[in-house]
Amino acid sequence: MKKVGVAILGLGVVGGGTYRILTEKNQYFKDTQGVDVTVEAVLEPRKERALSMGVPEEAICSHLLEVVANPAVDVVVECIGGEEPAFSFLMTALQNGKTCVTSNKELFSKHWHELEARAKENNANIFFEATSMGGVPVIRVLADGMQANRVEKICGIVNGTTNYILTRMDQGLTFESALKEAQEKGYAEANPKADVEGYDAMYKLSILAGLAFHYAVPLDKISRQGITEIEKKDVEYAKELGYAIKLLAVGKRTDSGLEVRVQPALVSLAHPIANIKDCFNAIVIVGDSVGEIMLTGRGAGAEPTGSAIVSDVIFAAKHLDRNYTHFLNETKDKLKFSQDVTAGHYLRFNRVDETSAQAVITALGKSGVTAKTIRQEGSDILAVTAESNESAVLKAVERAAKNGVTLAAMYRVEEL
Ligand code: HSE
Repeated sequence: MKKVGVAILGLGVVGGGTYRILTEKNQYFKDTQGVDVTVEAVLEPRKERALSMGVPEEAICSHLLEVVANPAVDVVVECIGGEEPAFSFLMTALQNGKTCVTSNKELFSKHWHELEARAKENNANIFFEATSMGGVPVIRVLADGMQANRVEKICGIVNGTTNYILTRMDQGLTFESALKEAQEKGYAEANPKADVEGYDAMYKLSILAGLAFHYAVPLDKISRQGITEIEKKDVEYAKELGYAIKLLAVGKRTDSGLEVRVQPALVSLAHPIANIKDCFNAIVIVGDSVGEIMLTGRGAGAEPTGSAIVSDVIFAAKHLDRNYTHFLNETKDKLKFSQDVTAGHYLRFNRVDETSAQAVITALGKSGVTAKTIRQEGSDILAVTAESNESAVLKAVERAAKNGVTLAAMYRVEEL
């Protein structure tokens, strides 16, 4: 039977989950996959932690060079997170001909091309299923399951922490308590700003859009907005109007170029995406041959992310011959990015007096924006528009402000 040795760099939440799955299911993988995958080395400075997880003392390393010099190690799994030293470690491991697996979305979204080039130079491989959507096998689907398609759109929830927070806010918790719970459950990043300000989703979108549209999608082309400004009352108003607020990552081809954005948006309660709760992620992928498919599952946490890493390790074990993505780092010349977004918009204005609602109606009308709903709720005026260019909506907001009616919140309505 093929024997494959694995080294895990970092035994945090994700590294720990990966270690558990690999050791507990060794026999299962022999039976079902025909490979004997054993953990040969673990790089973890907290030796006590490694010992408490059952790692044999002789497998615990304190320096990367011990790992890469070990001929029994075929696959190096990076679970350190952050850019450095993770990037240097991966480059060194690849340089030494080790195939690598990473869950590190920040690093991968910034250095995909360099990593893949280094892998090719050294007859090694780099796999990254666990960078996006935790245990949901979206990378394999995009890379190896949809070749027949020209992907038109990807749209979904790709961050577990923010979905958990929005779910709990809807159940009455404050933002702070919901975030604390997400941290306790091991969903959040070491610095949770990455989750709540949309950076984590932006990294994942850049990777997913790269695969879907076959060209590098630089992070600075993705417009990003997190969930920190969402007020509880917007969550409630949205629900009354028939929507849920979700942090969406969207990539779609439009006539004016590729639209790539991470932002809170209203999703009709009639769509399954609106009912994705807790740390679950979900994505809709629209291909020209297959039409629409949707994938969903746990997007964060030790075991779901470990599941994705182990799937890469086994894929690597079975394909130690080469298997590269067809990713082209030629964005500048080939891919045009759209600047103006066409969508429905949810707008909340501060009501000043009885003329305010009329001022909003007039401002929208003069800007060529059709209102589907206008509603007065205490000191708020709510409007939901039909599909309109964002620039026209912003003109309307400016017009309303000139008449003293200022905007308090604005989110897109995503038609799925
Ligand atoms: N912090 C990330 C999330 C972990 O909440 O989605 C999984 O990538």
